[in-house]
Amino acid sequence: MTTSTYLFHDTPPDTRSDNATMLDALAGMLDLFSRRQIRRIGVRADARCVVVAVGASCIAATLAEMASHGEVTATDIDLTPCRRHPHVNLIRHNILTDPLPGDAYDLIHVRLLLAHLPARQRNTVLAKLARALVPGGVLIIEEFEPTWRTSVLSAPDLDEADRLFAAYHRAFGAALTAAGNDLRWGRRAHHAMHALGLQVETTGHTGTWTGGQPGCLLPHATAGVIRDRLTSAGMTPADIEAFRELLLDPMLVVKGNLVLSHIGRAPTSS
Ligand SMILES: C[S@@+](CC[C@H](N)C(=O)[O-])C[C@H]1O[C@@H](n2cnc3c(N)ncnc32)[C@H](O)[C@@H]1O
Repeated sequence: MTTSTYLFHDTPPDTRSDNATMLDALAGMLDLFSRRQIRRIGVRADARCVVVAVGASCIAATLAEMASHGEVTATDIDLTPCRRHPHVNLIRHNILTDPLPGDAYDLIHVRLLLAHLPARQRNTVLAKLARALVPGGVLIIEEFEPTWRTSVLSAPDLDEADRLFAAYHRAFGAALTAAGNDLRWGRRAHHAMHALGLQVETTGHTGTWTGGQPGCLLPHATAGVIRDRLTSAGMTPADIEAFRELLLDPMLVVKGNLVLSHIGRAPTSS
């Protein structure tokens, strides 16, 4: 496929609100952690930054506040759910087919995109991003570990909740794999970045969520968007409904998927 294998492209029009909820839930689950990572690295006031596939996240806005005399660009193939910020240059952009909007970046942030690309395209994109860094510049790649099977901490019926999460784990994993997603990429990004000459440091993060909160709204919305693919992969419509109902139950407590944040620094020139 030449443009994208992104699983959530070309989803039916009646799933648009679930798609928006999915991106909002990702921001609600992960933005605090990503911001903490960025603050830890530090961003100069005149830094040049790009956030690739920004979705509904606030990362570009955070960077714009830190790089107040610099330049911040945010890209996505679909700008509908993206938040606007007066100091962020938001552009429609396909990372697979378009040249990067610039080069000599001090910081590049990419969260939850690369796993969706088939290996060859993923490696090409990663190399393109690493090449676009200034000496000493930082590439942040953040990805999930697929751990839905072990999510449930508390539920009205623990065994039933475990069964539903296991059914989702199997079907979602199969749907992702069928679309070209590499479920190991969350970990393997570290090796791939190191192989490009970056000095890589990896930090993990997870959170605890009750029914109706972002960590539960994410699988609730996702299951709504890709209902057909889940049923094709063996999850019954009744289980999808029961799973989605459970995810809104305030008695449910889950741990979110582990997110791995890989911070790769380009060598400084000697
Ligand atoms: C799983 S979402 C993650 C959004 C955001 N990075 C976050 O973590 O909250 C993936 C995003 O990648 C975008 N996307 C998919 N394929 C893309 C491509 N080929 N080029 C640029 N963006 C793409 C989608 O529109 C979506 O906003």
